[in-house]
Amino acid sequence: MAVVTRARNMRASDGVREDRLWRRHMEMGAIGATPKGGVNRQALSPEDAKARALLMSWAKARGFGVAVDAIGNLFIRREGTDPAARPILTGSHLDTQPTGGKFDGAYGVLAGFEVLEALDDMGQQTRRPIELVVWMNEEGSRFQPGTVGSSVFAGSHGLNEMLAVADRAGVSVRDALAQTLAAAPAPLRPGVGFPIDGYIEAHIEQGPRLEATGKTIGVVTSVQGSRRFTIDVLGEEAHAGTTPLRARKDALSAAVSIVSALERLMHDDTDTIRFTVGRFEVFPGSPNTVPGKVHFTIDFRHPDGAVLRRLGDQIATVAAAHAKGCAVTVTDLSYVEPTVFAPEVIDLVRVSADALGLPHMDMPSGAGHDAMHINALCPTGMVFVPCLRGVSHNEAESATPSDLAAGCRVLADALVALANR
Ligand code: GLV
Ligand code: MN
Ligand code: MN
Repeated sequence: MAVVTRARNMRASDGVREDRLWRRHMEMGAIGATPKGGVNRQALSPEDAKARALLMSWAKARGFGVAVDAIGNLFIRREGTDPAARPILTGSHLDTQPTGGKFDGAYGVLAGFEVLEALDDMGQQTRRPIELVVWMNEEGSRFQPGTVGSSVFAGSHGLNEMLAVADRAGVSVRDALAQTLAAAPAPLRPGVGFPIDGYIEAHIEQGPRLEATGKTIGVVTSVQGSRRFTIDVLGEEAHAGTTPLRARKDALSAAVSIVSALERLMHDDTDTIRFTVGRFEVFPGSPNTVPGKVHFTIDFRHPDGAVLRRLGDQIATVAAAHAKGCAVTVTDLSYVEPTVFAPEVIDLVRVSADALGLPHMDMPSGAGHDAMHINALCPTGMVFVPCLRGVSHNEAESATPSDLAAGCRVLADALVALANR
């Protein structure tokens, strides 16, 4: 009886174990580990399958439910006391950038799992089930665009359209997912998407503000909007020694002038616009052949939807104006409007941090997250913790065990508050 009473008075955060959470990060970070201390575990790769299998082995040891949906989102469920109640979700992603770190995405998954374990250790029930979700292909490195699992779950991308997307080697999401599920099998959850009552995602900040201000917790209020495009420039291969400049259709020369023109279009004295060409491929890639084809990507972000629309809508026109006789195709891959999180979840995160005595600040997110899509379905929010020098999408990405545990404690108390509503 005494034990039950104590469990009732304890906060979920009391059960969070910093050592266990850190150990799980190191174990997960060993899958796809790179020589420079980072992780290369791209979506639906053999490493991704190993990471899923490891998480499922921990879940099964605890007796949690495990299921995967048709786009490859993985769910770990701890039941609530009300069988009819819609679940509360928490989670993030296990896929990484090619030169990624141990914490981007993995933290939100492992913090969510730590909350489930903490509740279990304390014998604490919640009215609603709490489900941990691993969203498929958040990063969008191997398959474009990113945040695929969450966007299909939320209905902003079609299932079949996303299953048909292929990587650079021509392997489709459909085939890569089949291979992943063969290596890391899980019961299929029918359909994609189901009613949920709340979502909170924990993540490293991926920027320098928390560290610079000495705060442990970022109460995330919004995510800037983003658009992604690909541009294909088609010229004509020709002999580098014999073909006069005026007879050339040099795809590289055209692509370079398109990128320069786009950089002028995106010039911003306030340094708010984020414009990145992260992939630039030249074909056939032979020193003495005039390039016949160039493929490159555009990642464009801004907190103001009107700016995102106005400038993004000019990209195709600017590209065509600098084509230098080549054919230019601009493909609009994804468009995510700026996200404003639910005031009730923002408050809950802030109140939980306050109650734990953790220094916190409200802040927008510059990085994109699966929470952007889930925000359309239910009250949603995020918890940030600092990362060293704000470095992310880099093998040197780092965070401290105590900051990770602090964010996990905030997540635990906020999730339980939602789950007991
Ligand atoms: C997520 O990794 C992003 O690109 O913001
Ligand atoms: Mn991430
Ligand atoms: Mn990332």
